[in-house]
Amino acid sequence: MRLKDKVALVTGAGSGIGRAIAIEFANEGAAVLIAELNEEMGAAVADEIGERAAFVHCDTSAEEDVQAAIASAEERFGGLDIVVNNAGVAQKDWDTTIAVNLSGVYYGCKYGAEKLATTGGGSVINLSSILGLVGIGGEDSYVAAKHGVVGLTKNFAIAFGQRGVRVNCINPGWIETPMTDPIMEMEAIAAQMMTQTPMGRMGRPEEIAKAAIFLASDDSSFMTGASLVIDGGWTAR
Ligand SMILES: NC(=O)c1ccc[n+]([C@@H]2O[C@H](COP(=O)([O-])OP(=O)(O)OC[C@H]3O[C@@H](n4cnc5c(N)ncnc54)[C@H](O)[C@@H]3O)[C@@H](O)[C@H]2O)c1
Repeated sequence: MRLKDKVALVTGAGSGIGRAIAIEFANEGAAVLIAELNEEMGAAVADEIGERAAFVHCDTSAEEDVQAAIASAEERFGGLDIVVNNAGVAQKDWDTTIAVNLSGVYYGCKYGAEKLATTGGGSVINLSSILGLVGIGGEDSYVAAKHGVVGLTKNFAIAFGQRGVRVNCINPGWIETPMTDPIMEMEAIAAQMMTQTPMGRMGRPEEIAKAAIFLASDDSSFMTGASLVIDGGWTAR
């Protein structure tokens, strides 16, 4: 078990990629704090995992919520080793997208990295996207926010490099989650996406969670400030 006795906080863990990360982390021995806006979905994932998981209500676009969620890990599980800034939205207005997808990740880095640095070090993992590396000619707010997450990852990696905190991001391609369901219902767009993906299929949330385990564990002990692209080859073109 690669995360035995570790404590992880995962934002947006009520669905999709965050849910898979929470479950896979628990399978690797971690206690998991599910910091989620949707109480019903967050509590359901905590119940599914069992006593080594807890739900905390958190709107990641609210700085005080993120600060409180991070502080609560100590009370609930006696510490904190891993912070996954995963919560995100798609196809929303500019202000909402920037507030959740960029400011939310910034708060998670700011309070998360500081907490880890003062309690023996740890790993921060941010969810960016392939749209944090290239543009798509639309979805301006999403593309801007996800590029910003890559920048924040590098900045916090530099700032905390000598304080025992590693900060990396994952850049997933098209993954089967409720976020992409509406896009995949548009047949022409779905077909185009598959044509553009050399592996010819979407990824599964578990395939992102496996990479998160790697970044959270000592297996990636000399890795910080990096972007881990998991996209079935989409950005290889
Ligand atoms: N699915 C993909 O193809 C894909 C690709 C690249 C990157 N990503 C990124 O991965 C992350 C997870 O996406 P997903 O596909 O699992 O989406 P999802 O919609 O299935 O899950 C997102 C979760 O975040 C929660 N959430 C939304 N706003 C929140 C807030 N303000 N505070 C706390 N929680 C909030 C939602 O309730 C939901 O549980 C996102 O950052 C997304 O941008 C997804």
